Amino acid sequence: MAEFRLPANSTVKKGKFFKADDAATNVRKFNVYRWNEDDGENPRVDTYEVDMDKCGPMVLDGLIKIKNEIDPTLTFRRSCREGVCGSCAMNVGGTNTLACTKANDEVKGDINIYPLPHMEVVKDLVTDLTHFYAQYSSIKPWMQTQSPAPSGVERLQSPEDRAKLDGLYECVLCACCSTSCPSYWWNSDKYLGPAVLLQAYRWLVDSRDENTGERLDDLEDPFRLYRCHTIMNCANTCPKGLNPAKAIAEIKKMMVERQG
Ligand code: SF4
Ligand code: F3S
Ligand code: FES
Repeated sequence: MAEFRLPANSTVKKGKFFKADDAATNVRKFNVYRWNEDDGENPRVDTYEVDMDKCGPMVLDGLIKIKNEIDPTLTFRRSCREGVCGSCAMNVGGTNTLACTKANDEVKGDINIYPLPHMEVVKDLVTDLTHFYAQYSSIKPWMQTQSPAPSGVERLQSPEDRAKLDGLYECVLCACCSTSCPSYWWNSDKYLGPAVLLQAYRWLVDSRDENTGERLDDLEDPFRLYRCHTIMNCANTCPKGLNPAKAIAEIKKMMVERQG
């Protein structure tokens, strides 16, 4: 897995230390980024010693244990705890991932946890995804049709056409890929980034959608699509094992094909 260090890491100061119970024999340290706009302090990294004999196997289990038993002020997002809601995305051990599907055992040494890189932080591990969702909305992520709906049946799709959505529909919009992409770091105001482009391709390749031309027109722009420089961090980090770089390459291919 590629590592995406936060440039800010080296300057984030050590914060509070929460020691485990003396009786605990299987202790690991969770070093967690903390920042709260309301207290006016600089960001810091708090260290929590966690008794792993009394903790679930995943990084998210550790965070929930810390919040429930050690420090209720720690803030992070989570919902499903099984890799389908995408809300617990964060940077663990230098890699963007979902805390609920990342096992503590997969992380060597201390478990270092930061928010997704290059995003505005709302508080602690919670980043502001407003712009990310606005970009998602801009690709019109729903089926668009011109022809009248068939009466009494759904718009059908052959098994072969349905198979073209495999590797795309599984995306949980966690933003791990986009926030690992250097092109997105520097141009997220204009570049859509790998997550949104994978979603764009999901609708471009759907045999039932009838607005392919307009969708391609919307992407034909030096920034929205073409700021992808095949850096591949996106595919290396996706916790669902998807390949946004491939989806982007397919969109570029569609652009060329429609010219010819
Ligand atoms: Fe998350 Fe993967 Fe979807 Fe990117 S492609 S948003 S990393 S699930
Ligand atoms: Fe970024 Fe992935 Fe392209 S990391 S530059 S979107 S291949
Ligand atoms: Fe839903 Fe982790 S809590 S993906």
